[in-house]
Amino acid sequence: MKSQDELKVLVAREALRFVPKSGVLGVGSGSTVVKFIEQMQENKVLPEAAVSSSNKTTQLLTELGVKVLDPNEVTDYEVYIDGADEVDPKFRLIKGGGACLTREKILTSMAAKFVCIVDQSKMVQELGKFPLPVEVIPMAREKVARVLKEITGGRPVLREGCVTDNQCEILDVHDLRIQDPAALESAINNIPGVVTVGLFARRGADVVLYATEHEVKEIKASQA
Ligand code: A5P
Repeated sequence: MKSQDELKVLVAREALRFVPKSGVLGVGSGSTVVKFIEQMQENKVLPEAAVSSSNKTTQLLTELGVKVLDPNEVTDYEVYIDGADEVDPKFRLIKGGGACLTREKILTSMAAKFVCIVDQSKMVQELGKFPLPVEVIPMAREKVARVLKEITGGRPVLREGCVTDNQCEILDVHDLRIQDPAALESAINNIPGVVTVGLFARRGADVVLYATEHEVKEIKASQA
């Protein structure tokens, strides 16, 4: 039986074929992406340049000699590769377990294709078992928590000791049943003080690669 780490390596290796031969690659964050960066190094599949969703990813790419661009210098680009905490059958996602959701959402919105790389444990029928991350402006934390409780029925918990790359905080909303992810994404985005909600439903993934015990499966949005 393969460990979750081994599955992450398998899917990371498979994702190499999506690295564009020229131009900019968008690179996400998290432990699966760390494996993906390791695979890029091992197999010498490096992009011409990259945009990055976290300081950690920027550091790892820079160590490999990949030029990391400020997204302000880039117009839209071809491919963004990133992990997720949950993926539903319509390719809607929960992200933000690594607290990088805001930059991930910006880079997702700029990419023509979002390739999501996960192991099979992330594939779910309905989003919400994984606590939903919401990045908030610190001075609005308590108010946002009250509104989140009211509109979702969930239980917001401050992620202790976590300061995001944008100097903000994260509330993780537990005990949710997310029946209409796009509507919830909009509703939470509308709360003053919310920077970003980790629901990627209005713009989900275009391709999902997920590693199982026997193979890495690829599904495209048109098949979802
Ligand atoms: C980072 O903020 C997240 O969105 C990650 O993409 C997500 O948490 C998946 O992380 P792992 O690859 O570590 O499971």
